[in-house]
Amino acid sequence: MFFKIIVVFGILGQISCHTWIEQLSLVDQDGQPTGDPGFIRGYVPRIAPNFIDDDNTNLLPQAPSLTFQDSDWMCKPTQVKGNQTNGAVLNAQQGDRVLLRYLENGHITQPSIPPNKPSSGQVFVYATTQPQDNDKFTAIHGQWTPDGTGGDQRGFLLNTTSFDDGRCFQFDPTRHSEIATNRNDVFGPGPSITETPNRWCGTMISLDDEFGNPFPAGTVLSLYWVWDWPTYVPGNAGTSPTILEQTYTSCMDVAIV
Ligand SMILES: *[C@@H]1O[C@H](CO)[C@@H](O)[C@H](O)[C@H]1NC(C)=O
Ligand SMILES: *[C@@H]1O[C@H](CO)[C@@H](O)[C@H](O)[C@H]1NC(C)=O
Repeated sequence: MFFKIIVVFGILGQISCHTWIEQLSLVDQDGQPTGDPGFIRGYVPRIAPNFIDDDNTNLLPQAPSLTFQDSDWMCKPTQVKGNQTNGAVLNAQQGDRVLLRYLENGHITQPSIPPNKPSSGQVFVYATTQPQDNDKFTAIHGQWTPDGTGGDQRGFLLNTTSFDDGRCFQFDPTRHSEIATNRNDVFGPGPSITETPNRWCGTMISLDDEFGNPFPAGTVLSLYWVWDWPTYVPGNAGTSPTILEQTYTSCMDVAIV
């Protein structure tokens, strides 16, 4: 099994490719992050002893499987609801907008690493007020719909957008990355001290239900952020590429107070 994993990873040329939601922030009138951030469930800060990216990432399919399994959990096992030991839930007010913030880790600014990625991918945010710790990935992703009538109807698709928000970058001191250099020159580093000299990416959401009505105070809204980043492995001449799924999830909650 171990050998197979190495072979697969060798074929894909995958190096460190990991992203999770670093912070949840309220935004001001200009869409800029403001106030105290919130954190994903089971968050492990980068400064924790022996920190590795895997502490926060949830990669699907789970090796050695190459396809999603109906048994796959939506959330990393450490990301059970209520596990906020290393960072609090975001507190929001009715009608607030929230930015789910993450680092692009080169997946936007170095588009050819790893190879065979047609784009930096697509992000989906699912919302539910009836989460279950063993929520299954395939029962939700591509199932829950914006109007809440999809799948088991316990939740809905709150937003979907590209991973690349058009502004974010990982600072490149060598200026080899044209994208990072352009964005640094045009937009500059992000507004918070923690992200400088980088500019973090963000997925914006409003705290509205599937009918567009703001969730009332007292609601605890669970959010499942899903990033699809498939690899298109070229086939022989005249054949279509093989699509290999590579997806990451982060699970989190927002308390509307
Ligand atoms: C809560 O999260 C921390 C950090 O990820 C993890 O070490 C711990 O095992 C988690 N607790 C549960 C009950 O999953
Ligand atoms: C969906 O996300 C995009 C990108 O962050 C944002 O521009 C848009 O306003 C969001 N839509 C809603 C309804 O929040």
